[in-house]
Amino acid sequence: MKEQIIETIPLGKTALRVTPLGVGTWQWGDSMFWGYGKGYAADEIKAAFDASLAAGITFFDTAEIYGQGKSERFLGRFVSGNGDRPVIATKFMPLPWRLGKGALLSALRSSLARLGLAQVDLYQIHWPMAPVAVETWADALADAVAAGLTRAVGVSNYNADQMRRAHAVLARRGVPLASNQVEYSLLHRAPERNGLADACRELGVTLIAYSPLAKGMLTGKYTPANPPPGLRGRRYRGELLAGIQPLTGLLREIGGSHGGKAPGQVALNWLMCKDAIPIPGAKSARQAQDNAGALGWRLTAEEVVALDGASEPLS
Ligand SMILES: NC(=O)c1ccc[n+]([C@@H]2O[C@H](COP(=O)([O-])OP(=O)(O)OC[C@H]3O[C@@H](n4cnc5c(N)ncnc54)[C@H](OP(=O)(O)O)[C@@H]3O)[C@@H](O)[C@H]2O)c1
Repeated sequence: MKEQIIETIPLGKTALRVTPLGVGTWQWGDSMFWGYGKGYAADEIKAAFDASLAAGITFFDTAEIYGQGKSERFLGRFVSGNGDRPVIATKFMPLPWRLGKGALLSALRSSLARLGLAQVDLYQIHWPMAPVAVETWADALADAVAAGLTRAVGVSNYNADQMRRAHAVLARRGVPLASNQVEYSLLHRAPERNGLADACRELGVTLIAYSPLAKGMLTGKYTPANPPPGLRGRRYRGELLAGIQPLTGLLREIGGSHGGKAPGQVALNWLMCKDAIPIPGAKSARQAQDNAGALGWRLTAEEVVALDGASEPLS
């Protein structure tokens, strides 16, 4: 049962409305990168789903490849036992042997079967992978809308030029491009520098920010003495972790002046101040609740500038 109502915002220029913060579900069933089955399992992620809804967050992002379909299956199972249906986004991976538009519709039907749904809310192209042209997949997205299999369509990991090309094809079919989901956080500000955030504003495409906590680094819990486990430990260690400590210190300090907000909550709020929708992944009810605490308050313009400055050398 929902305990809170969060005001929703439109996704791009579509009729679809979503909460200004969503939940990423890559963790739900993925053992290779996230260690599903070691330290957290089905009960914990069901609790994360329930806690998100209880906090009023109703936007969930999955993909056919997460946990090789497990994430979609979990989400489908959780949604079927729930009264109000949340907003569900999933993704198509243009694997090199998927060569024509029909491959997208058939993959979407398989996702729908795993999710136990007749229609998703947002269907996204996961990566602009060769050999099939961006234009072909955009046209296939319009086919998916025409077939009633999705309400809205988006892309992911598209640069500004690829996004413009997809947007143009969809526009010719009368379908708005709702969103572009890209990596964006205080440790990865490329979208501000490579023209993507500006192009999203110009076209009215919502920027969905993935890895908004820099895979947990912006929560402040990882330090050189306590590096992250598994594959993350290869990228985030030693000097790199030492280098981000002043930033997490500033996040903590700023959070203090907002009634004790945690570093991760401040990092998510910063993204919302930049007009992005963050979709932090959550492995437990506690993490889901914490992340929802990024909503309901706002950083001042001065704090955003201070965080911009502190993250500049790191991002
Ligand atoms: N389109 C794409 O190509 C793409 C790529 C990547 C991700 N995504 C999407 O974006 C979502 C989010 O990105 P992400 O999962 O890469 O990274 P993220 O959201 O930056 O980090 C998630 C991780 O941070 C830790 N965490 C989360 N909330 C926390 C809290 N409140 N307190 C302490 N630790 C917390 C958890 O890991 P630990 O507890 O193990 O530290 C969690 O698994 C994914 O689930 C997926 O839906 C999309």
